[in-house]
Amino acid sequence: MVKHNFDELVNRKGTECKKWDTYADDVIPMWIADTDFKCPQPVIDALVKRAEHGVYGYPVNCKKFEQSIANWQKKRFGWDVDIDWVEYTPAVIPAVVYAMRAFTNPGDNIVIQMPAYHPFHDIIPNNGRHILGNNLVLQEDGSYAVDFENLEELLSKKRTTMFLLCSPHNPVGKCFTREELTRMSELCLKHNVFVVSDEIHSDIVYKGNKHIPFGSLSQEAADNCVVCVNPSKTFNIAGVRTGAAIIPNRHNHDLFYAPLEDNKAYGRTVFGTLPIEVCYNECDYYADQLVEYLEGNLAYLSNFVATKIPKLKVTPTQATYLIWLNCKEMNMAPKELSAFFLNEARVAMNEGSTFGPGGTGYMRMNIACPRSQLVAALERMEAAINKL
Ligand SMILES: Cc1ncc(COP(=O)(O)O)c(C=O)c1O
Repeated sequence: MVKHNFDELVNRKGTECKKWDTYADDVIPMWIADTDFKCPQPVIDALVKRAEHGVYGYPVNCKKFEQSIANWQKKRFGWDVDIDWVEYTPAVIPAVVYAMRAFTNPGDNIVIQMPAYHPFHDIIPNNGRHILGNNLVLQEDGSYAVDFENLEELLSKKRTTMFLLCSPHNPVGKCFTREELTRMSELCLKHNVFVVSDEIHSDIVYKGNKHIPFGSLSQEAADNCVVCVNPSKTFNIAGVRTGAAIIPNRHNHDLFYAPLEDNKAYGRTVFGTLPIEVCYNECDYYADQLVEYLEGNLAYLSNFVATKIPKLKVTPTQATYLIWLNCKEMNMAPKELSAFFLNEARVAMNEGSTFGPGGTGYMRMNIACPRSQLVAALERMEAAINKL
């Protein structure tokens, strides 16, 4: 079996890389959500071969892209996706915006669960809709539970027309159970609220947990949702700016597609669809080994923090490589906290309050890097905190 070397250090500096070229040279970047791993070798080989052809004219749609999305959903999650349900999109966030425009009107309410992935805080008001936040409830062990009572109250409001679900959840690393998802679906159906399920982190789920695609819950759920996917987090190909929406209901699919057609925004790119097809058709081995490697990083981090930096607490993490670090015992205001880690430890992370309510006192740490880099970052954090 092909073995990927996740310990390999790849120099990303000077490649117009947001993660590495934003901060000074001596800062270890543990922030934005891409990995520091090379993508699978079959992807590199396919891109090189295609590049060597030397002609990159308009691509025609042979449904290979759609088939690869359907293949992955079936293989990994047991969901039978018809290729006619799949729509090419220029990544996940544009797909969420298209869905918002197709299924809601300006002035409507859109429910998200807080703390929430920071671009959700922008795209909703920027498109003239209102955010209604359902705060996830912090449990004694540091994990989070869904507040179903408040969720129903928000969904039942007259102008609430969409629930934007992040499953698994960024930033708290929660993998929702079938029971939780079914309850969310039933509440949305009861109150006539459409669901957009952002499942970009679905491949990175740790032992004992299982990702359930929202559209696979029931026929009713399938008819009331758009599921947004992208292998970019798993295979480190976010820069190719391509993703997909899965819309099982034909009428919904037509509503979603109309503005793309009106804006002629459906054009694919040669170097966008090809890597996705290769990842989803040939690279299961990589996804399996990645999760195993990340599990090792998570165990290392949890042990290191518990024994050497007891002022910090690692949120119990079921999914994603984004770790929600509780730094409340450091008693620092949000700006002070991120400045402390950046200036004193020379480690860049995402500051928690940028994710909205419930984020103050937290930092989000991306552990998708070679173990040696994680160790170096943690040692710097330990030394800086010990000097306080
Ligand atoms: C929950 C979530 N959705 C969407 C995105 C961005 O997706 P894309 O680059 O496909 O727009 C991210 C990236 O971190 C994310 O965490």
